[in-house]
Amino acid sequence: MESTPLLELKNLTTAFPGEDRLLKAVDNVSFSLQKGEVLCLVGESGCGKSMTALSILQLIPPPGSIIGGEVLFDGRDLLKMEAEEIRLIRGDRISMVFQEPMSALNPVFSLGDQVSEVLRVHRGMNREEAGLKAVELLGRVGIPDPERRAGEYPHQMSGGMQQRSLIAMAMACEPDLLIADEPTTALDVTVQAQILRLMERLIRGHDRSLLLITHDLGVVAEVADRVCVMYAGVIVEISSVKPLFKDPWHPYTMGLMASLPSPGQRSFNPIPGSVPDLADMPSGCRFHPRCPRAQEVCGRDEPELVETGGRSVRCYFPGSENAGMERAT
Ligand SMILES: Nc1ncnc2c1ncn2[C@@H]1O[C@H](COP(=O)(O)OP(=O)(O)OP(=O)(O)O)[C@@H](O)[C@H]1O
Ligand code: SF4
Ligand SMILES: [Mg+2]
Repeated sequence: MESTPLLELKNLTTAFPGEDRLLKAVDNVSFSLQKGEVLCLVGESGCGKSMTALSILQLIPPPGSIIGGEVLFDGRDLLKMEAEEIRLIRGDRISMVFQEPMSALNPVFSLGDQVSEVLRVHRGMNREEAGLKAVELLGRVGIPDPERRAGEYPHQMSGGMQQRSLIAMAMACEPDLLIADEPTTALDVTVQAQILRLMERLIRGHDRSLLLITHDLGVVAEVADRVCVMYAGVIVEISSVKPLFKDPWHPYTMGLMASLPSPGQRSFNPIPGSVPDLADMPSGCRFHPRCPRAQEVCGRDEPELVETGGRSVRCYFPGSENAGMERAT
């Protein structure tokens, strides 16, 4: 029997006010994350990945707001907690790492002070204890000469070192859940690989969980246990990583896979068309204007997310070509 998930989203819906109605950036999103698991959230730009992550910690920028659903963390709904309780959980049991390290670091405080601050606020350490622990953490995330570096300011460091510092801050309280939104996109390829390995090491073997948002399928193949594919605010496929890469069921996932350059090839083959605007969502299946398999029903009724054998897919004609034909008849 599966244990209670560490995180469980149930019908989470987050919207922005539009001209004449609410525009749902996250529409009835449900998924769960087990203890010790790495779940990757993937999809093209504008699919709602960041809004999903920000909704978990109620950091949606106004005028956006969560209009429905539940975010169960260890069985308790974060959306029903008092602001103070959420504030204590954030940075303690749940930490977040963002894409742009520089915008998340405070330019006027040294790195050591910024890491210490987390320990003083959440762990009640005194200045000296926190300072020593901060140096230890900076060393653990691979910052050379951490004692000296702790006294430096963010602008004195490379992007990779800044991101390592943010990870040190995120890991300072040994969170149960780390949410990382495109944590390596701004870094060069070699540093990307180092940062990913670092995050994996801090998660694996510690019964911690990672929700990793990325549009880089190479990264997904390397670190994910399970993958959640989003398109235009909804989940279109959830699967363990191996079967997803071997045999994607949703035509959108197939398109994403096909857009990956094959060995020796440098260019991408992006899916024709683009992610629809929230104010101009297609009827029926949101992917139908771009889907090579679309039939009449696809433009009329929105398919449900259906689970079969531990995999979920939202499509009338899922699976490989033949399987699609079988299901359609
Ligand atoms: N402040 C805002 N007001 C209105 N709509 C917004 C706002 N912020 C985001 N959105 C919309 O919410 C949708 C989801 O955005 P989100 O940032 O979650 O996408 P994403 O999947 O993280 O994309 P990316 O890969 O570019 O980071 C988009 O359609 C976007 O236009
Ligand atoms: S439901 Fe239809 S349009 Fe949507 S992905 Fe499946 S085949 Fe394509
Ligand atoms: Mg984003």
